[in-house]
Amino acid sequence: MAGKVYVLYASLTGNTRKVAKAIAEAVGATLVDVRRDPLPKVEPGDVIFVGDGVYGWRPSRAMRRALSALALPKGIKAAVFGTYGGKPSQLAVLEKILREKGAEVVDRFSCMGRDWFFLGLIGRGRPSEEDLRAAREFAKKVVG
Ligand SMILES: Cc1cc2nc3c(=O)[nH]c(=O)nc-3n(C[C@H](O)[C@H](O)[C@H](O)COP(=O)(O)O)c2cc1C
Repeated sequence: MAGKVYVLYASLTGNTRKVAKAIAEAVGATLVDVRRDPLPKVEPGDVIFVGDGVYGWRPSRAMRRALSALALPKGIKAAVFGTYGGKPSQLAVLEKILREKGAEVVDRFSCMGRDWFFLGLIGRGRPSEEDLRAAREFAKKVVG
C-alpha cells in the first residue's frame, strides 16, 4: 500500500504557506504547520516535503527545531522547497539536516516570495499562479 505524504512547513509572512498548500492539494498530502501543529508519526514508505522561507540566509528557528525533534525511519523519501527574496539559501541547510537524519532528498523547488523585510517592495505578486503551477508539477514528480 502506498504511504502517506506530509508537507511540513514554516511560514512567517505567508508565502511558503501558499506553496505548501499547492503541493498538498496536488498530491493529496497532509499539511503540517510546524509552528502550530503536532509533528506527524512518519512511517516507512511515507514521503515528506519540507518547506520554509529564508531569514538571514537560514531556515527559520521553528523549522530547525521541528526537524531536530522529528523522528524519521531510515531512507525516507524527502523533498525540500521554499520561497526567498534574494536567494534560496535555506534549501541546502534543510537538505543537510534531512540527509543527516537518514532521509533521501530527491528534489528541490523554490520561487520568490514577497519580501516584507524590504517593506514588500521585492517580489510583489510572488508566489504567482505560475509559481504555484510549477510547485504542483514538482510535487507530482516527487510522489509519482
Ligand atoms: C526577517 C526577514 C529576513 C529575511 N532574510 C532573507 C534572506 O536572508 N535572504 C533572502 O533571500 N530572503 C530573505 N527574506 C525574504 C523571505 O525569505 C521571503 O519573503 C520569503 O518568501 C518569506 O517566506 P514566508 O512568507 O513563508 O515567511 C527575509 C524576510 C524577512 C521578513
